[in-house]
Amino acid sequence: MSQIAVNVEGISKIYRLGVKERSSDNIAGMIWDFVRSPLNNFRKYRSLYRFDEAELQGLEAENGQMDDILWALKNVSFSVDEGEVVGIIGGNGAGKSTLLKILSRITPPTTGEVIIRGRVSSLLEVGTGFHPELTGRENVYLNGTILGMRKKEVDQRFDEIVAFSEVEKFLDTPVKRYSSGMRVRLAFAVAAHLEPEILIVDEVLAVGDAAFQQKCMNKMQDVGKEGRTVLFVSHNMPAVTSLCDRVIWLDQGKKVSEGPAREIVGDYLLAGSTTTACRQWNDTESAPAGRFARLLATRVITEKGDVAEHFDIQQPVGIQMEYEVLEGGEVMLPHFRVKNEDGVLVFVTLDHDPEWYQRPRPAGFYTSTVWIPGNFLNEGPYFVDCALITRHPDIPQFNELAVLSFAIAGSMEPGTARGDWPGRLSGVVSPVLEWKTDYRKG
Ligand SMILES: Nc1ncnc2c1ncn2[C@@H]1O[C@H](COP(=O)(O)OP(=O)(O)OP(=O)(O)O)[C@@H](O)[C@H]1O
Ligand SMILES: [Mg+2]
Repeated sequence: MSQIAVNVEGISKIYRLGVKERSSDNIAGMIWDFVRSPLNNFRKYRSLYRFDEAELQGLEAENGQMDDILWALKNVSFSVDEGEVVGIIGGNGAGKSTLLKILSRITPPTTGEVIIRGRVSSLLEVGTGFHPELTGRENVYLNGTILGMRKKEVDQRFDEIVAFSEVEKFLDTPVKRYSSGMRVRLAFAVAAHLEPEILIVDEVLAVGDAAFQQKCMNKMQDVGKEGRTVLFVSHNMPAVTSLCDRVIWLDQGKKVSEGPAREIVGDYLLAGSTTTACRQWNDTESAPAGRFARLLATRVITEKGDVAEHFDIQQPVGIQMEYEVLEGGEVMLPHFRVKNEDGVLVFVTLDHDPEWYQRPRPAGFYTSTVWIPGNFLNEGPYFVDCALITRHPDIPQFNELAVLSFAIAGSMEPGTARGDWPGRLSGVVSPVLEWKTDYRKG
């Protein structure tokens, strides 16, 4: 049984966006306000952060709909086991950084309880925990001390930290002279090498260059493998799915869901996309069109012909487009491009229906459908471009990017590529291939 490293029980964080100014309309009042202003400012400041019980209950009742109140987090609970690498995802302002700040004890929750077992090292914003006037070297020791380490312990790690950060030349320069990339390099090196039991990292990777980002990813993976806990916030979904076992999805301060990384990231991407499983243009003015053809509708369908967004991995997926040929006499190539969540083009498929192969199409209405067999695409969300060109000459008529989306969900039913393997298989496709194993007595 693994130990729980982090337990978060119903935490909320309320911010007051500002307290309204009250101004006097006569001189005596203004002077009085001026004299009292330090006290008022103090009260205002305090009221930004303090809420008493009665007030909180009032806020609950109003469901947080007051103008100047913002629930950065609302009743969030979860727990993380020792050695787990957990991702936290969500749109801008979802509350991710607020959550990490609470876990790092930089700010207290307004309500709720946080229990943390182990020494926490966190990397929240560029250079937090660094003193700008101190040199890189001094800051490494300062951070070690904050983490409760002795000088000797930091000495032991020092070379490793410097080597990882690649800022050796600037070690004796004050940190305020560092570029933001250099600051992040050193900060990450310190956070990851001072052997915290829990490593908390908020989106810092965005600042480093590609090579350093990869190095940080590998380091975090190692930290997880060593049995230490990692909490990682990022907007980079491929990084989240490759690094994390489990993901917690926040939206507007609330936990939407948590579960296996791929699954949750897939749901999050589909929810955030403006695409759907069906698009229809009723107004011919706005419909995507060229001189010869106009797109009328495009949709993702099941075998029964129903529009659907979610498919079991064993189920065929139909992608359909309806279009009008405005001027007859051209050979046409309707086609779809299917991309996965990493933007990888999985395949392009062109209409090769023998009936229309190299045959000019007369004016009129068409519906073309292509079928993706079951057990072909791997689990995850997909995005479809819908396009049509004429041949000889090749003239694009419409090309709608990521106009459709759908998701494939894995299944534990027999008959998929993973056999009885419980986890998700990696890879872009997941075909069921024929296997044969011969035995010979040795
Ligand atoms: N000190 C503060 N005072 C007032 N409001 C705050 C404060 N800190 C954060 N907020 C608000 O709380 C909400 C959550 O912010 P938070 O920084 O946690 O979001 P986030 O999920 O990290 O977003 P991003 O992806 O943009 O980093 C936001 O609406 C933000 O404006
Ligand atoms: Mg943030």
